[in-house]
Amino acid sequence: MEATKKKLILLVDDEQDIREVLAIALTDIGYDVLEAANGKQALKIFKEESPTIVLTDIKMPGIDGIEILKKIKQKNPETEVIMITGHGDIDIAIKSLKYEAIDFITKPISSDALEIALKRANEKIVTRNQLKQYTENLEDLLRQKSMLRDNLSSLGVMIGSISHGIKGLLTNLDGGVYLMESGFGKKDEQLIDEGFDILKLTIDRIKKMIFDILYYSKEREIKIKKINLLKFASDIADILEQKALSHGIKIVREFDNAPSKFFADPEHIRSALINILDNAVDACIEDKGEKDHKIIFTLKQDEKYNIFEIHDNGIGMDQKTREKIFNLFFSSKHNKGTGFGLFISKNIIQQHGGIINLKSAKGKGTCIQVKLPITDYENR
Ligand SMILES: Nc1ncnc2c1ncn2[C@@H]1O[C@H](COP(=O)(O)OP(=O)(O)O)[C@@H](O)[C@H]1O
Ligand SMILES: [Mg+2]
Repeated sequence: MEATKKKLILLVDDEQDIREVLAIALTDIGYDVLEAANGKQALKIFKEESPTIVLTDIKMPGIDGIEILKKIKQKNPETEVIMITGHGDIDIAIKSLKYEAIDFITKPISSDALEIALKRANEKIVTRNQLKQYTENLEDLLRQKSMLRDNLSSLGVMIGSISHGIKGLLTNLDGGVYLMESGFGKKDEQLIDEGFDILKLTIDRIKKMIFDILYYSKEREIKIKKINLLKFASDIADILEQKALSHGIKIVREFDNAPSKFFADPEHIRSALINILDNAVDACIEDKGEKDHKIIFTLKQDEKYNIFEIHDNGIGMDQKTREKIFNLFFSSKHNKGTGFGLFISKNIIQQHGGIINLKSAKGKGTCIQVKLPITDYENR
């Protein structure tokens, strides 16, 4: 129980005899007693030890009891201060109540008066602590409620976009079936083939979409590991090198300023970076201009972040596209894309406390920058 726990009390009186007697009485009823002979000492001890209760004489040379009371209440309003007054000091005693002293007792101090004042101080402390706990519980409940609401609304957005995506796919399936049916009716092999192609493409896209949904819907906890960054980044570049080279696109690795150590969840960051690099390759393939296409993959570091940059000179994006690329299901690649890549990548990066930035101009190219905060681990 709160009241029986050993409490720290600061006793302030310039008269040594009174301090001694009071200290014995207080120790007897279970307090740990700190003593101060004047105001200056009292404030110093208060600062160092933060006692829950202060018992102070009012009349003292130098800093007096009222001054101590004011200073203590200023520093920590939750400290309860009991004033000790002499006979005839009733005016000052009442003044002290104005400054939030919990009680005052008069000299010569009776043990009853002392115990009543202490009881009152303790009750106030207990009540305050209870109140604090109720408030904290309430705040907790409110936080949970708003989290729940956020989850529900993002679920709503997700279901909305999935339905939208599926609707598009159904239209494609209908179209394919229609072509095939009329192809069979007219014995037109070309129509049948066209319909069949549409069906195959759509089925591929459904497959891809389902995989992506499964990937996204798993509540994946991140597992931070130490990563050898040079190898990690080289592996990622290797994965896309084949696809790039087969379209005459060069992937340039600028790893000279790579940080030596790097901590993140390797699986997640890998899939985010692969997504971004894959988009860069697609953007170059899509660009039918005459330029030599290349993708520059840069690793660097500033004071706060490990930085990854993927820069391509592919088709680039207009403003409308730039605004939508992180949306779930936004894709400009028709049957080839799902619109999941950047949505998931952004989630992963944010889960790491990181930021993803975009710079892009239509016809010129795109730069995607991923900044992951340097963690405590890095400095060890
Ligand atoms: N490097 C890039 N250059 C041009 N457009 C890009 C680039 N990266 C992403 N985009 C645009 O953002 C869209 C969404 O990308 P993403 O979420 O990965 O989906 P997906 O690749 O399946 O289309 C792409 O369809 C494309 O329009
Ligand atoms: Mg993509």
